[in-house]
Amino acid sequence: MEHGRCTYEGAQRGWGLEFGTLFEDVFRDPLYRRARRFSRGRSALSEFRRMNIFLILRFFMRHLAGQDVIELGVWRGGNVFFMAAVLKELYPSARIVGLDTFEGMPETKLGLDLHRGGDFSDASLQGVQDAARRFGLDNVEFIKGDVRQTLDQIDPSRQFGLAHIDLDIYEPIAYAQRALLERLVPGGYLTYDDAVTSSCPGATQAVEELIASGMRSEQIFPHFVFRAQPAR
Ligand SMILES: C[S@@+](CC[C@H](N)C(=O)[O-])C[C@H]1O[C@@H](n2cnc3c(N)ncnc32)[C@H](O)[C@@H]1O
Repeated sequence: MEHGRCTYEGAQRGWGLEFGTLFEDVFRDPLYRRARRFSRGRSALSEFRRMNIFLILRFFMRHLAGQDVIELGVWRGGNVFFMAAVLKELYPSARIVGLDTFEGMPETKLGLDLHRGGDFSDASLQGVQDAARRFGLDNVEFIKGDVRQTLDQIDPSRQFGLAHIDLDIYEPIAYAQRALLERLVPGGYLTYDDAVTSSCPGATQAVEELIASGMRSEQIFPHFVFRAQPAR
């Protein structure tokens, strides 16, 4: 790793999905197919991005000191359930925590964000908790509230192998991304669903600021991936 990233590993996933046969290979993977069922009708993630998360979980995260996962921006829980199903088979002691208002977006930044307060309000904490029980995914927990408050409620000693940001708007991402990097195990992964999505310029700006502060990305297709600096 150099500058906190491994460009070779990023290219293995990104190039493989964009130009190679990885899309077809992952689509045929029985674990991917089993886990994907839990996201049906509940997730806005593109197939490419779900696949990249799958590749990180299946082939790259196993080398890390911890495999717990956190997602910021859960909506109806589809991607949390997908990741929980993968974790359950690969790392049975790992847990996943999902944070959302479950009342939709808070106020957004006029002139930057394209989303408006209240978008994605068709979700509820009770709804995702009931679904997790129905799916038998007992490795999942949800925290309701604005991430700018709830992130700090998580025990500071708790560290994650993967943090996935899917908040879509500037302010909470700018707040959360630095805090999340400090909560990753050495070499842990920070991924963004939204920063290369044309409807989320606020997410793009938050990532631009992270890069301007000295971070280098490991991968840009199908989404941004950063790594926590390994200890020297
Ligand atoms: C695109 S949706 C998440 C999609 C989900 N990850 C999936 O599997 O498709 C974005 C979510 O971010 C949440 N959100 C945005 N800003 C937030 C904030 N400051 N605190 C908590 N949740 C927030 C919204 O409530 C919404 O559910």
